[in-house]
Amino acid sequence: MRLRKKPHTDEKLQNFADFVTVGDVQPIIKDSTRELHVELGTGKGDFITQIAELNPQINFIGLEVEPTCVLAAARKIREKNLSNVRLIVFDINNITEIFSAHAIDRLYINFCDPWPKKRHAKRRLTHVRFLEMYRPILADGGEIFFKTDNRGLFDFSLEQFAAVGMTVRDVTNDLHASEPSDNVRTEYENKFSAAGVPINFCVARFGNG
Ligand SMILES: C[S@@+](CC[C@H](N)C(=O)[O-])C[C@H]1O[C@@H](n2cnc3c(N)ncnc32)[C@H](O)[C@@H]1O
Repeated sequence: MRLRKKPHTDEKLQNFADFVTVGDVQPIIKDSTRELHVELGTGKGDFITQIAELNPQINFIGLEVEPTCVLAAARKIREKNLSNVRLIVFDINNITEIFSAHAIDRLYINFCDPWPKKRHAKRRLTHVRFLEMYRPILADGGEIFFKTDNRGLFDFSLEQFAAVGMTVRDVTNDLHASEPSDNVRTEYENKFSAAGVPINFCVARFGNG
């Protein structure tokens, strides 16, 4: 999703400084009393705001590189008056810099950019390069919930999960064929589903546990 940077986005984001971080991020240490779930590439926030509203006992962090998307998501958080979501304007390539070891209980990767050209494979958020970054910051038994419309990216991702010794469960190439009652749809999921594109889904975790 490439949005043109609208003027004054950074100034507008300052109105949400209580839950939006722009610029330097202090290392995030796990609150031992609550689970931490992190969404990579939060977009305009439909998913994170819905799932946070449904799960007030869990802390959520959304990482998103586009400030204009973060602004749209921040407005939704304020509208819903959510106190368990934080957004960070951040490039996922640097994810290991901000989370302490085992801080994350669950990672959501929803409709990440497929980077279809082979020479760009390393940019896919499910490439082994990224999986090895997630490994130390995921809690023991922590899981990656992955959804995509792109079958090529999905098959590639299953290979990558296997290559780093992850096990997968709940694999489907058509999530909406019998949609789980707790599935929360993202902006892209609604868009692709309306166009008749099936949604691929799985949950991956390190180790066999
Ligand atoms: C295709 S959109 C999907 C948005 C949303 N997750 C959804 O399912 O509707 C991918 C999002 O990931 C963000 N993104 C891509 N690369 C990123 C990176 N390296 N760091 C942070 N966000 C990134 C994009 O800006 C975009 O908002």
